[in-house]
Amino acid sequence: MKALLVHRLSPDLSGVELAEVAMPERRAGEVLVRIRAASLNFPDLLMTRGLYQAKPELPFVAGLELAGEVIAADPDGPFRPLDRVMGGNKTGAFAEYASLPPTALRPIPDGLDFVTAAALGAAYGTAWTALVEQGGLKAGQWVLVHGASGGVGLAACDLAKALGAKVIAASGSPEKLGALAAACQPDAVLLAQGRFREAVAEITGGELCDLVFDPVGGDIFDESTRCVAFGGKLLVIGFAGGRIAEISTNIPLIKGFAIVGVRAGEYARRFPERGQAIREAVNAMAAAGRLHPHIDRVLPLERWHEAFAAMDRREIVGKVVLVP
Ligand SMILES: NC(=O)c1ccc[n+]([C@@H]2O[C@H](COP(=O)([O-])OP(=O)(O)OC[C@H]3O[C@@H](n4cnc5c(N)ncnc54)[C@H](OP(=O)(O)O)[C@@H]3O)[C@@H](O)[C@H]2O)c1
Repeated sequence: MKALLVHRLSPDLSGVELAEVAMPERRAGEVLVRIRAASLNFPDLLMTRGLYQAKPELPFVAGLELAGEVIAADPDGPFRPLDRVMGGNKTGAFAEYASLPPTALRPIPDGLDFVTAAALGAAYGTAWTALVEQGGLKAGQWVLVHGASGGVGLAACDLAKALGAKVIAASGSPEKLGALAAACQPDAVLLAQGRFREAVAEITGGELCDLVFDPVGGDIFDESTRCVAFGGKLLVIGFAGGRIAEISTNIPLIKGFAIVGVRAGEYARRFPERGQAIREAVNAMAAAGRLHPHIDRVLPLERWHEAFAAMDRREIVGKVVLVP
């Protein structure tokens, strides 16, 4: 089968190639899936460079999120051949087939196609874990979302709007603000460059934000410490900007806010019942048409380089999906 193989860590994708590899062997208990769609997530890019916390042994097949149909499964397990499933492990999604434990998969809700299903789980699961589970989001609250044009950021905007929050969608890319406003219809868009606290104060009528969702870090985190309301939460999601910020602890004390670290995947592993509840809540909202995953483009797996390079250049609004 064809698979996107990382055979060497490289800063420029030179250690990645589309290769012909052996079909995965289904071990007892596993589910063999024919992959119909796989979405690109920032950690996929980081893993080609060895810069993600998970460092799979080389060579490995890239791709952490897929949707497809079951080819073979244990007769006493939860899945049957032809079941439509979504999910994934840390690797293996950018291929024609994958063999996964059943815990890494769940049924695709009725009405959702493979492309949408592949784009839903990681982004909205992260958004839900951060905003609802750890952030305690309530309708009417102000939420500032950074990296809002990204997969996780746009999902956070969409979810927060669907749950009745007031959303400021913030992007560091001026050319993406128009597309961003159209994609998630926030209450305001914000160009997150330099000092943006005064703009946030103006938008919120001086209230500042109950929740700040930050997948970017660095200067964005630093300025965001000035945008959180007393009693609010600054949710640390990631460091797409490249710099991990540091903070003096007197700042959250004086300003009365909490800094909350979010690891959505680990949260679901440590608290499996909560993880299950989060996945079900996201899928139920998607099935009811209350969530609108934004697919920037769908490309054949052969054009993987274009997808990875576009993510690296920050060109994507929402998600890119690769179809094998
Ligand atoms: N904590 C968790 O559980 C969890 C789960 C999933 C992902 N993450 C993390 O969340 C972050 C975003 O992931 P994603 O899949 O949404 O990625 P993505 O689709 O590439 O979005 C990242 C966004 O960050 C912004 N950004 C700002 N500076 C950037 C830079 N120097 N390089 C690239 N992007 C930059 C860009 O938005 P603008 O141009 O609009 O500013 C970009 O669209 C990553 O750090 C990822 O590791 C964390």
